[in-house]
Amino acid sequence: MDDLVKEAAEAILAGKLVGMPTETVYGLAADASSQEAVLAIFAAKNRPHFDPLIVHVSDIAMAEDCALINELAHKLMKAFWPGPLTLVLPKRDYIPDEVSSGLDTVALRCPNHPLALALIEESKRPIAAPSANLFGRISPTTAEHVREQLGDSLACIIDGGPSSIGVESTVIGFDAQKTVYVLRPGGLSVDALSEVLGYEPSVKSMEAVVAEDLNSRSPGLLKSHYAPQVPVRIKGPADEWPTGKEWGCLAFQDAVEGVAHNEILSANGDITEAAQNLFASLRRLEASDVQQICVELVPEEGLGIAINDRLKRAAGGA
Ligand code: TXA
Ligand code: MG
Repeated sequence: MDDLVKEAAEAILAGKLVGMPTETVYGLAADASSQEAVLAIFAAKNRPHFDPLIVHVSDIAMAEDCALINELAHKLMKAFWPGPLTLVLPKRDYIPDEVSSGLDTVALRCPNHPLALALIEESKRPIAAPSANLFGRISPTTAEHVREQLGDSLACIIDGGPSSIGVESTVIGFDAQKTVYVLRPGGLSVDALSEVLGYEPSVKSMEAVVAEDLNSRSPGLLKSHYAPQVPVRIKGPADEWPTGKEWGCLAFQDAVEGVAHNEILSANGDITEAAQNLFASLRRLEASDVQQICVELVPEEGLGIAINDRLKRAAGGA
């Protein structure tokens, strides 16, 4: 057992906060069964209390302690755990109301990262962990990102290297007929989900979220959730890139000339690599001296759906 994992597990049991690597993004981890530890997460992130947390478990047995698992949920867990799939299910009392912001459901996920799994197993606790960034800021994909924004609040940070996926998990819910819908597109593609479900789950667009008032069910879907500190504009397919030293640009494949800062997600047009690079690129753009950022959407398929979702949120909506 890694010494740092042992130290981190002791910190978790003492109600402290830990930086936890996962395959999607880094998490701000605390004991999900402790009301006080969970409140410390909200305080450190400056996160509003109406935005519920994801609980991380090491296996389906631990998930059973936290929620009521229907047959279809069980099947999806077997197919995709450990991995970037979060399921919203009826909550058991073991999980305090602070985790779910008073909702009667809890979001569960089993992360596919050996150090995250080791931490959960060593502490023998389900671990509540939102992304380890200040509220409304860009999610972290390296230990250094976590240290920059939250270092002072943490007992320790487990450095597990850069996150291999780079966008947050796919969050799904079940309606009364146990039909699955996607609340947040993420690291597990809708195509992969469809294959196991035998149908294509509907993705609740931001417009639908607003229209159906789903915000009360998944408050983290606020449009501005991923906004960088610098205004972001989306380049339309027929638009030219802007030029001038006030501009930073985030392109999918090809370099942009005549701007102060240029980031490329994947020179080969590889969508997996693009997802891995997304948040670090946005952070570099934000830290550069530019006054405005222009971004280009990627092909709307596979992981590209999650990437485009994050880019639209960074731009503050549609
Ligand atoms: O990949 C991930 O999911 C990362 C890593 C650390 O696991 N975590 C993450 O957590 O992205 P966070 O807190 O940044 O996003 C949690 C999302 C939010 O959209 C929140 O509203 C939703 O999950 N959520 C949590 N509990 C919910 C519930 N009971 N019902 C509906 N949505 C819920
Ligand atoms: Mg987040």
